[in-house]
Amino acid sequence: MIRSINDTNVREYISLVKEINFGATKYAHVITFGCQQNERDSETILGLLTEMGYTPTDNADIADIIIINTCAIREHAEVKALSLLGRFKAQKKRNPDLIVGVVGCMAAEPHRADMLKKDFHYVTFTLEPNMLHRIPELVARKLTDGKRSFIFGQDEGDIYEDSPAVRRERHRAWVSIMYGCNNFCSYCIVPYVRGRERSRCSEDIIFECQGLVNSGVKEITLLGQNVNSYNADLTFPELLSRIAEIDGDFIIRFMTSHPKDTSSALIEVMKRYTPKIAPFFHLPLQSGSNRILKEMNRTYTRERYLDIACELKENIPGIALSTDVIIGFPTESDADFADTVDVLRRVEFDNVYAFLYSPREGTRAAKMDGAVERSVKDARMAELLGLQDKLSYDKNRPYVDTIQRVLTDAYEIKNGRRICSGRTLTGKLVYFESDAEIGEFINVKITKACPYHLLGEAEKRG
Ligand code: SAH
Ligand code: SF4
Ligand code: F3S
Repeated sequence: MIRSINDTNVREYISLVKEINFGATKYAHVITFGCQQNERDSETILGLLTEMGYTPTDNADIADIIIINTCAIREHAEVKALSLLGRFKAQKKRNPDLIVGVVGCMAAEPHRADMLKKDFHYVTFTLEPNMLHRIPELVARKLTDGKRSFIFGQDEGDIYEDSPAVRRERHRAWVSIMYGCNNFCSYCIVPYVRGRERSRCSEDIIFECQGLVNSGVKEITLLGQNVNSYNADLTFPELLSRIAEIDGDFIIRFMTSHPKDTSSALIEVMKRYTPKIAPFFHLPLQSGSNRILKEMNRTYTRERYLDIACELKENIPGIALSTDVIIGFPTESDADFADTVDVLRRVEFDNVYAFLYSPREGTRAAKMDGAVERSVKDARMAELLGLQDKLSYDKNRPYVDTIQRVLTDAYEIKNGRRICSGRTLTGKLVYFESDAEIGEFINVKITKACPYHLLGEAEKRG
């Protein structure tokens, strides 16, 4: 169900906390792990905290409330969050009023939720990722009667519109269009922690995008765990064209797409609206072996994947492709891995994000036999990265002497020179000397290619 936080008691809790905080300067520190969805969620968390009267700070030491927005995708992400959390134990001892909240995907795993409640006495509350609108309630509860709260298993799959947000950047914005995932890839925790797929109403999304463009945003990235399976009153290709029809000088990106939902209709829309829809596609492959893909429950074959990659390249000349690969899924043999390498060679991705398989409690793959030894995984990773360095370099070299439209993201003063960084429409990182403003599109002549970035000279403006 689509709900507005204005129809709930969220506003009352916000006012209550604001009243309690009135007259004092109180600081809030938010730490984010994980994907863009989490980054976007943290903007909502900061929005809620700001409305409750907290001032955002990058300095955890002075914070009155610390919220850790966690990720559960691989063990490493959890270990990092837990070790960071450990650092706040001493701070809580010094300041017993400190509020420490653990939210996000790790807080939605039963064994982690249990552990946080029992073993981490300095944690004030935990909350699952789809329940962020309850943060004001939990803060109010702590401030009024000192109670700790552990919210688990209460996600009803609702979408909450109208939450406040403090966006980190002025020129780029993330817009979540759908939440959750129904795919149950056998290795993946996301469907368990983020729940079933649900899409926002297209009108709300278009209204939000229009507002962002009006406020000067130059790049909108539509987000979803499975963004191209968006399905509400419009299909994903229909939604994309409606956003592309919004007047203004801005570009649209989206992620992450699943091959099964990458239709010819979607490719057609990208073709029609290039370059307003950026010529870039992130299409996770996971494995190039049909046997492993089946074990992973990915529902496509290597042949189907290669066809999609081909269709994208044919219809959108110069498109950049990137992918995710998992190395060392249970039973992955040398021959299976060779199949993955083969797809990498055939598609010639611009970028590959490779991950060592990490068993996730509660998923089907975690119960599989045939674990691949760490040394074998590491050797495969080294081989893949070595190959991809070369392929990425080969993809970047033809950019030399071309003129690229670059969106300026940041600048640094180095040896008295103002060095800007930005991205081409195809998503390549470029460094160039310029007085360009952050958020300004600028034409850059590429002078040098490296495997993972380009160097260039800005063209004179006006
Ligand atoms: N929804 C997206 C992204 C999921 S998470 C998708 O469908 O692709 C991002 C990446 O993490 C995945 O693409 C996958 O490559 C990797 N990943 C997910 N679960 C993993 C696990 N258990 N071990 C290692 N990598 C994993
Ligand atoms: Fe995980 Fe697969 Fe869903 Fe992506 S599509 S979030 S990998 S279950
Ligand atoms: Fe991690 Fe949750 Fe994103 S598990 S990758 S933060 S959806």
